[in-house]
Amino acid sequence: MGRADTHLHTHFSGFNQLGNAMKFPESVITPEVQVDQMRRLGYQVMAITDHDAIAGAFQGEKYAKKFDDIDLIVGEEVTTLEGEIIGLFLTEKVPRGLHVEETVDIIRSQGGIVIAPHPFSFHVPGLQEKILTLGVDGFETINGGHPDYYSNMFACKVMDSYPGRWADLAGSDAHSVYTSGTCWTEFEGTTADDFRDSILKRKTKGCGKAADPFTQVQWSMEVVIGGQKLLTDKLRNRLEIVEGDQLAQKIDSITRLNAGIGIVAGSAYLFPPITCLATVLSLAFLKRGSKKMVETMDERLDRIGRIIEGVDSGVPYDDGKKMFQVSNKRIERAAKKLNG
Ligand SMILES: [Fe+2]
Repeated sequence: MGRADTHLHTHFSGFNQLGNAMKFPESVITPEVQVDQMRRLGYQVMAITDHDAIAGAFQGEKYAKKFDDIDLIVGEEVTTLEGEIIGLFLTEKVPRGLHVEETVDIIRSQGGIVIAPHPFSFHVPGLQEKILTLGVDGFETINGGHPDYYSNMFACKVMDSYPGRWADLAGSDAHSVYTSGTCWTEFEGTTADDFRDSILKRKTKGCGKAADPFTQVQWSMEVVIGGQKLLTDKLRNRLEIVEGDQLAQKIDSITRLNAGIGIVAGSAYLFPPITCLATVLSLAFLKRGSKKMVETMDERLDRIGRIIEGVDSGVPYDDGKKMFQVSNKRIERAAKKLNG
């Protein structure tokens, strides 16, 4: 039995945004650090799946080829207008900001595997019921970035209700080595090709659990400290920029004044009461959100059953209800671009 973690990020994932003002790097670790960490943890297969970027995965692949104990799959977590989707075994970058059906076609045209990350999340953009009609190969029943008690539990319920329909996968969604390998997929064999076969035969098993919320604090502190280092490099004219590295490009593009402000703001965040308060607030948000979502669970499972019956019978089910969708700044920007 091999173990694969197919949802790992690096600093090539660029920036995310909280509200209109607060921007922060998704990750500050390099592909090489992720490879070293996965080898240390004893994984046989890993995939780098940066947000709307593939250069880091290629860089990681080149590095991983030096070792015979790990296979690295080139992947990308692509922002579509309906939510995020992961393509594995890619040969080139998949553009962001398209409708998800078109994105799936592009992944398939490269011979790729299509995975839905965190499909039923209520706080990051999962594809929700859309996964039922898309023909995805599999979806994450456990995502390491979901310590709430609804998202993973509901995904497991859907998977268990239709055995053999999709490959059961888990991904740590690690943006930091503190959370790499918290979730994994067991498969028959040890290589990336074995992993692909297991997905196609629906013989995989998602394992692990969401990372402890306090590891998210470690990640946020790592991001702030790493971001401050880059901002300092910018002020000292020592910033290194690799092609496709959205994070370094963004830092290079800001003014020296804003770089200075970023360093001061980052230092304020590192002041312990603020980091603790941020954790308490996010836990309260997740608890409240889960409670609300659990109330709709039976009704939602019933609706999912009808949609699947529609797929199998060729008569699509449509009750006219709007699909639940989580938006974020990345999707809003993509939609804006599409609409001119
Ligand atoms: Fe992710």
